[in-house]
Amino acid sequence: MASRSLVAWACLLFVLLLLAFGGAPAEARPAPGSRHRRVVIAPTPTLISTNAAADESTVPFNKAAFSVHRKLLAENNKPPKAAAPPESSGNINVESYGAAGDGRSDDTKAFLNAWAKACSSAEPTVLLVPAGKKYHVKEIPLSGPCKSEITFQIDGTLVAPEDKSDWNKQGYPHWISFTNVDRLTVTGKGTLDGTGKSSWKNSCRTNHKNPCTFAPAALTFTSCNHLKVHNIKLLNSPQVHLLIQYCKDVELTSITITAPSNAPEADGIHISHTEDIRIIKPVIKSGDDCLSIATGVKNLYAYKVECGPGHGISIGSLGKDNSDAQVSNITIDTAHVTGTLYGARIKTWQGGSGYAKEIKFLNMIMDKVKHPIYIDQYYCNQFDPLKPKPCEEQKTAVQISNVLFKNIKGSGTTKDVISLHCSKSFPCQDVILQDIDLKMKGGAKKTMSSCENVMLKQSSNVFPAPCTSVATKNDHVPEDSSD
Ligand SMILES: *[C@@H]1O[C@H](CO)[C@@H](O)[C@H](O)[C@H]1NC(C)=O
Repeated sequence: MASRSLVAWACLLFVLLLLAFGGAPAEARPAPGSRHRRVVIAPTPTLISTNAAADESTVPFNKAAFSVHRKLLAENNKPPKAAAPPESSGNINVESYGAAGDGRSDDTKAFLNAWAKACSSAEPTVLLVPAGKKYHVKEIPLSGPCKSEITFQIDGTLVAPEDKSDWNKQGYPHWISFTNVDRLTVTGKGTLDGTGKSSWKNSCRTNHKNPCTFAPAALTFTSCNHLKVHNIKLLNSPQVHLLIQYCKDVELTSITITAPSNAPEADGIHISHTEDIRIIKPVIKSGDDCLSIATGVKNLYAYKVECGPGHGISIGSLGKDNSDAQVSNITIDTAHVTGTLYGARIKTWQGGSGYAKEIKFLNMIMDKVKHPIYIDQYYCNQFDPLKPKPCEEQKTAVQISNVLFKNIKGSGTTKDVISLHCSKSFPCQDVILQDIDLKMKGGAKKTMSSCENVMLKQSSNVFPAPCTSVATKNDHVPEDSSD
């Protein structure tokens, strides 16, 4: 105890000496333009209300804070830390970077510049697109790695170019795409309007004489780990609305996707090569799959899905062009599917390899769905007039196993409401049907179930009784435009 008070006295003496000689220890004086860490309130992840101009300005030397600091220094009797590097945190508003938001000007550059600033910031940043305005932007590739967390807050409307010539012709075009950005959050009450009409008109699905080309996905995430996307609305994408690939740990909450039922290839959410995904309460109306779960997807949980119109909730297609597929641990829990071609579907091509396993479709209400429960291992959907249809039976197929359809009720618009069409060489294994009640719309005609090469593990409380008819390949639903 005696030695501690001795130290305290020594410190006090030291401080008094300092005060007497009017000098502060050089290293304790904050460098101009920096706030001293030890006396500033801890940085919070969302600093609000500074704009870009303020970020660049110097912070005035704070006398009061400095004297507090000196007191702390005396009490702790520790050497002061080196001054913190300049901070450039807070809100970045795209308008501070020249975005006009007038619905006419090209705001692409402003967005790119604002992103560059956010991405190089050492502190967490909110990149704001203000509400109530329309920003015309062409393709904007936003890439990382970034120095800190970014929240892309879209409150206004982004509008894509209508003119096709504005899209990149090399490879697969993307409208707004994020690559290599970890811990990104995209949120806000705003809308991404893909103005897809002209692309839909040129699609080979709309007119089979057109060559099959790629049109842009509206919003793409590639190699983004710990990604969150909340609340935003996607409208009329040229093709896929939300594309997620090569990511890990993804959370999608309350996303709204809207396009007409005749928008070709306009999947709602298409995911490939991604692990650990939670999709909560999406509302998806479009012209293709509401959810499309492609190869490389593992550990996906979707809850409270509103789907339709569209082509339903799909695993696949898998195994195209003799490719290898790997999909496992997929749960769709609670879904309302209305006015779609399919409800719960798994689709694979002949000639593929790999697996689709541990798949659960639970608690689904089907409302006027053409084919509510559907496994198709003879999926074939080739519109390119230059290519022959690769539909013939082949020696290999993606192995489907361990699939549960449970508590699925409602109405179909064709008789065959439970169709399980598996491959001859790789029959489906361990398929379970439980608590199913599917009637024809209006309740008039009796429904039935067709099966082919499927090993049902068990089934209980299923109406219509599973596999009442053994299908032949001729029973297949023609795939024309009803992909
Ligand atoms: C399956 O995925 C869920 C997420 O949907 C996850 O919580 C669970 O741990 C996964 N199971 C396995 C065996 O990896």
